[in-house]
Amino acid sequence: MKKKLSFVLNDRKITLEIAAQEVLLEVLRDKLGVKSPKCGCDRGDCGTCTVLMNGKTVRSCIVLAVEADGQRLTTLEGLMKDGQMTPLQQSFLEHNSFQCGFCAPGVILAATELLERNPKPSGDEIKEAISGNLCRCTGYLPIVEAIANVNNALTPPGRERLGKKVRS
Ligand code: FES
Ligand code: FES
Repeated sequence: MKKKLSFVLNDRKITLEIAAQEVLLEVLRDKLGVKSPKCGCDRGDCGTCTVLMNGKTVRSCIVLAVEADGQRLTTLEGLMKDGQMTPLQQSFLEHNSFQCGFCAPGVILAATELLERNPKPSGDEIKEAISGNLCRCTGYLPIVEAIANVNNALTPPGRERLGKKVRS
């Protein structure tokens, strides 16, 4: 059975028809061409399919698309404004925080959510916030550094909150 679905995706109103059993990740990637959310595990474990729904992270591989009806969704594609990366994205670049980059969209969205509610997180808070996003390449330290140092949020005393020296 088909269902009509409407939501705001990256500040754009979307209306489409979907099958009731379709998951959000499929709709985003296959019907709307939004490719930053990726399918890593397809069972809610790896975080590569992370998107923001009303500013909160959800794993789009285990969310039915109908649950997005009337909601506001943000993917990595929606973070840039006027062609400018967010300070968080710039910080990831500056810290060489990714290798293959498969995990990057999900990690950046998880960090975006964290910094919205807590602009100066501790190292432990950063680690907790990205704990559901698996990265097989980096060992996580450059990711934590990028989040900790966005906008120089962590000055030298703040860096100590990471529990180790942060590259400058
Ligand atoms: S693909 Fe959704 S959590 Fe892994
Ligand atoms: S950079 Fe390769 S999985 Fe994170």
